[in-house]
Amino acid sequence: MNRVTELLHIRYPLIQAPLYFLTNAELVAAVSNAGGLGTLGPHAGQDSLPDSRYTALDRMRQEIRKVKKMTENPFAVTLINGPDMSFWRPTAEMFVEEGVEVVLINEVLDAEIYDFFRRNRIKTLYRALTPTVANSKEAEKLGADVIIATGFDEGGTVPTRVIGTFSIVPMIADSVNIPVIAAGGIGDVRGVRAAMALGAEGVFAGSLFLTALENPADEKVKRLIVESCAEDLLLFRTLPAYYRTLPTDLSPKLAELEAQDTDRETMFEAMNGYHSLWQAMRLGNFDRGIVSTGTGISVIKSVRPAAEIVSDLMQDFHKGSGV
Ligand SMILES: Cc1cc2nc3c(=O)[nH]c(=O)nc-3n(C[C@H](O)[C@H](O)[C@H](O)COP(=O)(O)O)c2cc1C
Repeated sequence: MNRVTELLHIRYPLIQAPLYFLTNAELVAAVSNAGGLGTLGPHAGQDSLPDSRYTALDRMRQEIRKVKKMTENPFAVTLINGPDMSFWRPTAEMFVEEGVEVVLINEVLDAEIYDFFRRNRIKTLYRALTPTVANSKEAEKLGADVIIATGFDEGGTVPTRVIGTFSIVPMIADSVNIPVIAAGGIGDVRGVRAAMALGAEGVFAGSLFLTALENPADEKVKRLIVESCAEDLLLFRTLPAYYRTLPTDLSPKLAELEAQDTDRETMFEAMNGYHSLWQAMRLGNFDRGIVSTGTGISVIKSVRPAAEIVSDLMQDFHKGSGV
């Protein structure tokens, strides 16, 4: 046991990161049943994008119910992606109605939101897009239970400052008293050991769970990740900062635009904006999007059940030496 497992009522301090629509009840329940903490990302388990926020809310409610049928263990749900929190209250109230135990709050530092969850006995994980000493201290002051410190190594929307996981984790761990969990580039047990040595009390892994058997990502995506290494990734400037992509039909065009110092808005359009991940990673249309991963993919060697991934990463904890 450590502070993270005690706080979140889980066996192992491993969180499967939200991966947008590349999460579903099956993946989340498998992680939580294996002793980690699964997390439903926005639009989890969906075959299409919603026409309104209300549809999205109702679909999330159904996905939460599905998880609850598959596991009795805690799991997390992402409150809202990004800085627009205007719809937080109906979402938070639905979480209370459905008995959600842990919420991931991206970016937002608002006393009303943290108070709401504390009053309703829901634990909060705070994750800034770009972690800083100041935003971590503020989250602690507002009552967040855990801070996720994400390094530039991560997949998805990377931090706006180029500070790697090795540097960000001890910096944040030294600045707050609540537990810090490391994110970015963790692909096997060596990454877990390094994170713990740097002062983290748990790990948050995303790209690795793209290759879980239960993940709804297109099979081509899983194969590409297993066959690729960090050298294959193209880093390009876009909104809000940078994205990385493995080779897709679209990536030569992005590489060319990047080499010409194209502005971020044009790059965002060229990557097919917010539809980029949906098209390429969920639907397998490599001509219409990108395959975003972190730099830790070099050590991912197979597609396997989420439970095996949890067991492998947490091997020190079964032996009792990790806690
Ligand atoms: C394809 C993809 C989609 C992601 N979507 C989200 C998301 O919707 N919300 C979120 O908070 N983080 C998202 N992330 C970031 C993860 O939560 C996490 O920070 C990241 O995966 C950790 O780094 P790693 O990929 O190197 O393990 C995404 C990451 C990837 C690779």
